[in-house]
Amino acid sequence: IPTLKEAFEGKFLLGTALHVDHTNGVRKQSADLVEQQYNSIVAENCMKPEEIHPSKGVYNFKEADQFVEYGEKNNMFIVGHTLVWHSQVPDWFFLDDEGNTVSREQLIERMRDHIHTVVGRYKGRVQAWDVVNEAIDDKEGLRKSKWHQIIGEDFIELAFQFAHEADPDAELYYNDYSLILPHRRAEAVKLVKNLIDKGIRVDGIGMQAHYGIDYVKIPEFEKSITDFASLGVKVMLTELDISVLPFPTEEISAEISQKYALVPEFDPYTSTLPDSMQAKLAQNYVDLFKVLLKYQEKIGRVTFWGVNDAHTWRNNWPIEGRTDHPLLFDRNNQPKKAYHAVLELANSP
Ligand code: G3I
Repeated sequence: IPTLKEAFEGKFLLGTALHVDHTNGVRKQSADLVEQQYNSIVAENCMKPEEIHPSKGVYNFKEADQFVEYGEKNNMFIVGHTLVWHSQVPDWFFLDDEGNTVSREQLIERMRDHIHTVVGRYKGRVQAWDVVNEAIDDKEGLRKSKWHQIIGEDFIELAFQFAHEADPDAELYYNDYSLILPHRRAEAVKLVKNLIDKGIRVDGIGMQAHYGIDYVKIPEFEKSITDFASLGVKVMLTELDISVLPFPTEEISAEISQKYALVPEFDPYTSTLPDSMQAKLAQNYVDLFKVLLKYQEKIGRVTFWGVNDAHTWRNNWPIEGRTDHPLLFDRNNQPKKAYHAVLELANSP
């Protein structure tokens, strides 16, 4: 089969998130697919503080080392994910030996140590880092994370500074979700502009892109790309997947939504997606990629959040054990209609 990375050659990088089972030999067939299709990888979990720095002074680099070696062996653009996030960060970061909340100075020191150690270890080998992840609040302003509460708003610029000190050649990104929503888009512009105005190195904005069928309003998607690009930074889709299942809202309770499907013939407990849904998914991907191609000079990379439908996080969130089909490859690593549609679009003049 033709490959994504070839089809988008000269336009932007095509990437995927890797699970440890891709680099330790367990998911061999998926790893073959990764090598064939993608020229960039990002660590799905193994570089998060919880995994790489589980307790004070204890670093666990085994899986991250494997991830980086895999990328090097395959000449891939390697992205580290993520240095400062409110989630998957162990409590010890924020507590002193007596169990009290650490001071601003102590937390800055811990952050500096963490970033210098992790980024420093892979200096010159990991080309880019998601430095700060999801710092924007869902309602307004910045999220009141422990980082924010203890250090203050400047935790963001400090994180970027430390990362730049640790590897002056690495690209540094701000990464967040739902950046097509007007208030979140505006907040991201403000945040990155503030860094730029202060002379702090920031190379790009990552739009996570965890979407759902018919969720994206294309003009909003387009506006985010152009607004971000006008700051002079790279724009990337960093965590792309399109769920075919309804998001459980308050009206649709979790239980009902597990059974409810967008088309009547689709049973979300089965592992085959009906043709009508395959076509819908393909169309949704085509709509996004049309915009990405239109702005290809501004787009640095498009990365899928996972390799195939069997192991996507969307099977387990926000409800455990659903059967989702958000990616371009099915549970047997076979290309779906969406895959062919995206390729055809890339190859059409
Ligand atoms: O392997 C561990 C095990 O050691 C641990 O003891 C146990 C209990 O937690 O489960 C296993 O860890 C799970 C891990 O995935 C590895 O499979 C975690 O519970 C589980 O929470 C974790 O989920 C990840 C999630 O981030 C955590 O927030 C997903 O795989 C990962 O896809 C997801 O990725 C995030 C991005 O980093 C940021 N943007 C949103 C995106 C989706 O949530």
